[in-house]
Amino acid sequence: MSSLTNKIAVVIGGVGGIGGAISERFAAEGAQVVATSRTAPLDGPATAVSPAEGGIRLQRANASSLADLKQVFDTVRKEEGRIDVLVINAGLSEFAMLGDISEDLFDRTFGLNVRALLFAAQGGIDLMQPGGSIVLVGSIADVVGTKGYGVYSASKAAVRSFARTWANELAVKGIRVNVVSPGPTDTAMMGAASDELLAALLKMIPLGRLGRPDEVAAAALFLASDQSSFTTGAELCVDGGGTQV
Ligand SMILES: NC(=O)c1ccc[n+]([C@@H]2O[C@H](COP(=O)([O-])OP(=O)(O)OC[C@H]3O[C@@H](n4cnc5c(N)ncnc54)[C@H](OP(=O)(O)O)[C@@H]3O)[C@@H](O)[C@H]2O)c1
Repeated sequence: MSSLTNKIAVVIGGVGGIGGAISERFAAEGAQVVATSRTAPLDGPATAVSPAEGGIRLQRANASSLADLKQVFDTVRKEEGRIDVLVINAGLSEFAMLGDISEDLFDRTFGLNVRALLFAAQGGIDLMQPGGSIVLVGSIADVVGTKGYGVYSASKAAVRSFARTWANELAVKGIRVNVVSPGPTDTAMMGAASDELLAALLKMIPLGRLGRPDEVAAAALFLASDQSSFTTGAELCVDGGGTQV
């Protein structure tokens, strides 16, 4: 039996990049996945969802919008009836050194990475039962002082902090909360980094390369599945050793 057979998984920001890899891996492991994206088609599933095998239902939603998030959970309540695994992946990063940080940059970053993540978790827990798992996509930036990354790093430190509190609060309900923290990973987000930054980041990584989205998805799968049944409040770094050695 696959590790997510008969599980309902919701991936907020579940198309493309790391979130897309998570949706695809979870579906391959037997989950019925609801994957949200601003660009998802308005009608119809992307792949067939059958009760017997995993599949992905796309739902258009802007993860920054609390109204859209409410719509996602209302639809899941109606269509799937429950959530076994909730992954909150949507996040953005923009560079600005202290002195050049605009209010808009701060609001955009904290609005998605912190505020929306909090309300997505709050919206999802009503649909979760004992045995449920919440996986937050953080970043190793939460413990690194990369120049120009101050707002992003602080937002991801908030994610790490939320996981500690929520793991404690939700333990009584039998729901686990963990963070998967990628290091530099080969997605559109990293594609936006300058060659100089990329070279500096690669120097920090003992394994000497960027991570792949499927490698982050494998770690998310561990945290989502019963394989990690005694793990909660933890941060699993998938960073080629960058913050570990
Ligand atoms: N790539 C890395 O090196 C790296 C390292 C550490 C952590 N991470 C984290 O991994 C997660 C996924 O990032 P990624 O690398 O896969 O980047 P990506 O390909 O750019 O994906 C970004 C995700 O965030 C959503 N998103 C971006 N801007 C948004 C906005 N303004 N409003 C609403 N949703 C927005 C996207 O949703 P749509 O489909 O709606 O566009 C997509 O789901 C993020 O939380 C990021 O912080 C990435």
